[in-house]
Amino acid sequence: MCCTERARLRLVLSITAQNKMAGCRSWILCFTVCAVSVFGATAEIKVTIPVGRFFTYELMRETFQNDFEPLSRIYAGHLYDDPMIFKCNRQNFPDLPEWLRFTQRHPYDNGFLYGTPTAPGKTIVEIYAVNKRSYETTRHILVIKMVAEKMLPFQAEFFIQLREIEKVLPSSVQDEIKADLQRLWETDTLEVVNITNALDRGGRVPLPLAGHYEGVYVKVGSERYFSECLLKVLTAEHTRQCQAGARIKVPGGCNFCRIPGNCITWCRTELFDLTKQEPAPPAPTMGSGVLEGGGDFTPLESPPSRDYFPDYIVTVLVPLIIIIILCLLLAYIMFGRREGVEKRDAKTNQIQLHHHHTIHGNTDELRRMAGDRSATPPLSTLPMFNSRTGERAPPLQSDSPTVPLIRAQHDPYTDTLPR
Ligand SMILES: *[C@@H]1O[C@H](CO)[C@@H](O)[C@H](O)[C@H]1NC(C)=O
Repeated sequence: MCCTERARLRLVLSITAQNKMAGCRSWILCFTVCAVSVFGATAEIKVTIPVGRFFTYELMRETFQNDFEPLSRIYAGHLYDDPMIFKCNRQNFPDLPEWLRFTQRHPYDNGFLYGTPTAPGKTIVEIYAVNKRSYETTRHILVIKMVAEKMLPFQAEFFIQLREIEKVLPSSVQDEIKADLQRLWETDTLEVVNITNALDRGGRVPLPLAGHYEGVYVKVGSERYFSECLLKVLTAEHTRQCQAGARIKVPGGCNFCRIPGNCITWCRTELFDLTKQEPAPPAPTMGSGVLEGGGDFTPLESPPSRDYFPDYIVTVLVPLIIIIILCLLLAYIMFGRREGVEKRDAKTNQIQLHHHHTIHGNTDELRRMAGDRSATPPLSTLPMFNSRTGERAPPLQSDSPTVPLIRAQHDPYTDTLPR
């Protein structure tokens, strides 16, 4: 606000210039406010995390909400609850670091950054929050420092079927799950190593019905060797039962889950003993970069020549001959077997032919009338004329059925006829 009015302020200051000290002070104030409004908008959070342990960072919508309308909260006492979406990326990069993932189910839910760092170092993550009501944006900076930590030698991965990743990431739920697994492992020194959405590992999107969940993989690690219960996973009997497709196979006395939603699927439990892993194969030795001489180059023999004539006959000539035969046949049917109109007329009975021509004539007349509204009325509607005298009667003036079509006329010929 102060910055946009800087030019006007300078003008006012130069015109009045009454008290130079006061002007100077207002400049300092102006710069302070500018600096606060520019740098204060991007809060910076620093975290230090160990390599090889699971890391979660919850993007609280409330925190970002405070950035959007701080004044309305202070002065109007009004607190909005706006839908928000987040966009996270590594600073100066288009995407997040490889090990870090982001999830947010719905604009009214908090978002989560989660993952397991694999190497020590420092990552700066930019988090942009977009307010879906006002379309304001704000930015937070998350500085993640990863420090080296000893690998946990014994690790196990469990599948929790009745969960979704967002429901597992809050630390309270993670603690519940960890508590169950600690009792299963019979140790307190248990660390979560990785949590993944089953969809990221080839799981299926569930039906949108109650009781269908995406599923979550939880990997934990410990310094302590696996407990009796965990080792039952490795037995031949367990493998056989799982292959037989039994749904819930809890090895006897090993059911430690208190909350049904946190129960693990025994058949998808995997143990990793990192102490037994073979050492990595030695790196390949580098050569001089020049190939050894191996004699002269001998080109391959060209393949034997092939006769394509039979193929040509089959693919080109045979269809061509069939087409020619068909053309000749069609030509004979169309032109060779027609008898002609005169021949047919000569064969036809004269009365039938006359009848036929009358129908044709009438049809033509109707066609002509149909093509033109103001066509002359058909001959059949004309008043009768005397065929002998050729005298025409005047057209009828009325459609009335009482008026006869044939008027009684004075006809010298009919008058002479005997009554
Ligand atoms: C955690 O799980 C994800 C997904 O399966 C995998 O890509 C990543 O390498 C795992 N991280 C560790 C440290 O095991």
